[in-house]
Amino acid sequence: MRKSFIEVQFPVSKISKESYKERKANYSQTLTGLGKWWGRKPLILVRATLLGLLMPASDDPEKDRRIFLKILTMDDEGMLLRKNRNLSLKELYQYATLKQRTKYFLPESTEEEPLLRPETDTEKKEELQKEVFLNLGYDDRLKYCLRPEQIEGPLPQAWNEINAYLGTRAHSLQELIQELGERQFGHRPRVGDAFCGGGSIPFEAARLGCDVYASDLNPVATLLTWAAIHLVGGGPEVQEEIRKAQQEVFEAVDRQITEWGIEHNEKGWRADAYLYCVEAKSPATGYWVPLAPSWIISEKYRVCAKLEPDHQNKRYRIRIITGADEKTFKAAEKGTIQDGDMVCPETGNRYPVSTIRGDRYENGKTIYGLRQWGNDDLVPRPGDVFQERLYCIRYVETCTDEKGRIQTLRHYVEPDENDLRREEKVLCLLKERFHQWQKKGYIPSKRIERGYNTEQPIRERGWTYWHHLFNPRQLLYNGAFSFYNNYENKLIKVALLLGIGKLSNWNSKLCRWLQDPANEKGADTFSNQALNTLFNYSVRSFIKLDSVWIYKLSQTFDSIKPFNEYIEPKDARLIQNFSEFWITDPPYADAINYHELADFFLAWYEKHLPELFPGWYAESKAALAVKGSGQDFRESMVECYSNFTRNMPDNGAQVVMFTHQDSSVWADLALILWASGLQVTAAWTIQTETESAGLKKGNYVQGTVIMVLRKQKSQETAFLSDIQADVEFEVREQLKSMMELDDKEDPNFSDTDYQLAAYAAALRVLTSYKRIEDIDIQYELMKERKPGEKSEIEKIIDSAVAVACDYLVPAGFDPNHWRMLSNDERFYIKGLEIQSHGEYRNGVYQELARGFGLRQYNQFLKTTKANETRLMTATEFGARGLHDEGFGKTLLRNVLFAIHETRKEESPQAGRNWLYNEMPDYWNQRERIILLLKFIVRTCASMEHWGDDIKAARLLAGYIENDHV
Ligand SMILES: C[S@@+](CC[C@H](N)C(=O)[O-])C[C@H]1O[C@@H](n2cnc3c(N)ncnc32)[C@H](O)[C@@H]1O
Repeated sequence: MRKSFIEVQFPVSKISKESYKERKANYSQTLTGLGKWWGRKPLILVRATLLGLLMPASDDPEKDRRIFLKILTMDDEGMLLRKNRNLSLKELYQYATLKQRTKYFLPESTEEEPLLRPETDTEKKEELQKEVFLNLGYDDRLKYCLRPEQIEGPLPQAWNEINAYLGTRAHSLQELIQELGERQFGHRPRVGDAFCGGGSIPFEAARLGCDVYASDLNPVATLLTWAAIHLVGGGPEVQEEIRKAQQEVFEAVDRQITEWGIEHNEKGWRADAYLYCVEAKSPATGYWVPLAPSWIISEKYRVCAKLEPDHQNKRYRIRIITGADEKTFKAAEKGTIQDGDMVCPETGNRYPVSTIRGDRYENGKTIYGLRQWGNDDLVPRPGDVFQERLYCIRYVETCTDEKGRIQTLRHYVEPDENDLRREEKVLCLLKERFHQWQKKGYIPSKRIERGYNTEQPIRERGWTYWHHLFNPRQLLYNGAFSFYNNYENKLIKVALLLGIGKLSNWNSKLCRWLQDPANEKGADTFSNQALNTLFNYSVRSFIKLDSVWIYKLSQTFDSIKPFNEYIEPKDARLIQNFSEFWITDPPYADAINYHELADFFLAWYEKHLPELFPGWYAESKAALAVKGSGQDFRESMVECYSNFTRNMPDNGAQVVMFTHQDSSVWADLALILWASGLQVTAAWTIQTETESAGLKKGNYVQGTVIMVLRKQKSQETAFLSDIQADVEFEVREQLKSMMELDDKEDPNFSDTDYQLAAYAAALRVLTSYKRIEDIDIQYELMKERKPGEKSEIEKIIDSAVAVACDYLVPAGFDPNHWRMLSNDERFYIKGLEIQSHGEYRNGVYQELARGFGLRQYNQFLKTTKANETRLMTATEFGARGLHDEGFGKTLLRNVLFAIHETRKEESPQAGRNWLYNEMPDYWNQRERIILLLKFIVRTCASMEHWGDDIKAARLLAGYIENDHV
């Protein structure tokens, strides 16, 4: 069988950059607007994967790559086509080469004031734009470009070139995919994804013209996937109909709320945000204390709340102060909740919140103290430990200024009697409708199933039904929106139902109030992947729901013509649909409890799904969710992947996407896939996470591994000892071909890519056999390993990485010398080289350490701060860890100390003496010492923090060079 492009090469750097750009588009990503799902995959990654599977590899990898990039409009021509913004004059000047500057700019131009030559006419300006744009690196170019999905595709002349090379007659991506599919399988290719989640994979496959099968255990996911293909892919007409319906419902709800009179005050102002806090009795005083970690409300207008004791009623008045003086504002920063304790404002006494809740420990178990709410509880009961209280309303006053222009003014107020009456009315209105609306599914009636994340609201607030996560106003509004969703058209009904999901996400009691001056608003429930309860929360008023409800469906270039598409909620173990390609992104090591979190949405959808999609179930089926990493998980993964393999032809292929972690994760997954009858043929890593997501998770570089697999058809068996040599050979071949292919100007592969390619090469050898005599797959799969204990497969991967390390020789470093270094030394040396290129991201050092097989690498670092991570200099190391096992005993460590000594004593002799006395065979090591010192001088001279250490290293190197017996 002929190899496909993705089995030979993949432009990882460019695809990472495109993926990053797509992710950074936030809410203007194509599918995210439909609703929340966790771990969505970038569409460009799916597009490239699918094309990579269908495009055959030829004997000319260089040309293959050029054509591949051309199809994706990631070549020069394609990028010019995607360019949608001109460089400013300043940018042109900044990025122009000297030649271009001389040609187009006046000699007196400066960075601040670039002046074009008078003869630079429109045509020349365009030429300049083009030339300078093409000078830019890939990342910089992308700032001026649309995403590939936002344009139609390559131009006709590009298609001519593509067709001439591939022997096709296509004029669009869909035609190309169809032709390539027909050539391989005799028909349009079918793509299956049985872990479809938010639908990236099936959506992109359908958009490229494939037949699609999509399923997910969770019906919320299948609903999102269905909506992706039918609503986003529905084209302008469908989108216009939806927009009209959204507007109609919005206006109807607006009329209703206005008629109820629950949002406007006596002055005609309309509320746009409500702030609530929890109250609990102080054990010290018996007063009801309002709880919040901070009482700041608006940084921009210096609004804060101030507690004033009301001795008569044993409570506090919460005054709202606008334009607060420094002292008051500062005092408001400290709330009555500090580090998880309630702080009594009178006495300053602190009480752990768990004590306030009445949690206790009995017979080795924690008994939680709060009363569990019942279905009919819409607000706390009078005897409850925690009460809830409205403490601030932000009103909007609309008026006209003296010139007749409309102005809006914001007022932050403490609720008065009338406001409180309106609150009561909201509750009354809700109570009148509550049971009927629950029956009709306008508001949830679903119980919260206990689980890792769902336990939190139960334990911390006593909430036991999903509607407890919403306050009466939120329930009333959402119910009203549902009430008006009485359209016959299924597309509209689904779009509006998803709108309810969006309202819930943006308006629940788990929505924090953000005081950000530029963006003062309520956050969304799932701003993190948990169900964290809050002591103070925000409620959006109707007018702040417009952008949530009237969500704009992205315009995808072509409306999708779903040829054959089948979407259903189903356990992946049970699917029976045949596909040529299975592209899946399993819930692997991502630690997201999809089945728990998605219940938040399912509670709003459950009564409507069976009606809209007869045959679909409306439960989360938590017990069947693939999760964790233990034995159960591995077993269920084997069942899923064996099933996909059964449902795939012999010439089909699978791609498994997963988050890159250490070699043990790879080893486990390889074992699972091997046991499922698959063979690894290639693996690539794409950086898919944005900075912020990375930082939240602790500054890791998040890579998505794309593992390509074929059916395992070999009958051969081997012994571990036999395959060792094969692994080494395969790793070398892999690295050699990657190096040959790499683009010198815009490197495709980084060191970590080479290391990961080594993992893949090892697995390719291993899984090419039916059996390895010394590996009992069943036993390895079932075995629970202790931390640090390595499986046989992991050991093979590690040895492959060791081979790769021999290849990662820093520029200008003698390869023989490199081979003599320990892994600790290599990490430090390679780290210096990377740092000299301005690399300060923690994740990169982490990857490097993994590659060199180091479990610990913090001892090398001066700081692990995000984007400031760097290695210690010789002086910063000082005598730290000298002589310790590992790095402490190495030649490099002693050389660093010798630099430190030279600097401290202001004499190279001090350094030389240290080495002479400490190194058992100084004279034999002398040559290597000089090489290390020279490398340090060369590499670190441009790094400011190395300062005088460089001078010392230079002096020492010279001194030792002249040292003779
Ligand atoms: C990483 S997510 C997929 C994300 C998706 N590729 C996207 O781009 O949005 C993994 C999915 O597996 C689903 N899942 C978990 N257990 C499952 C099972 N037994 N059968 C089918 N799907 C399952 C989860 O509901 C989740 O949506």
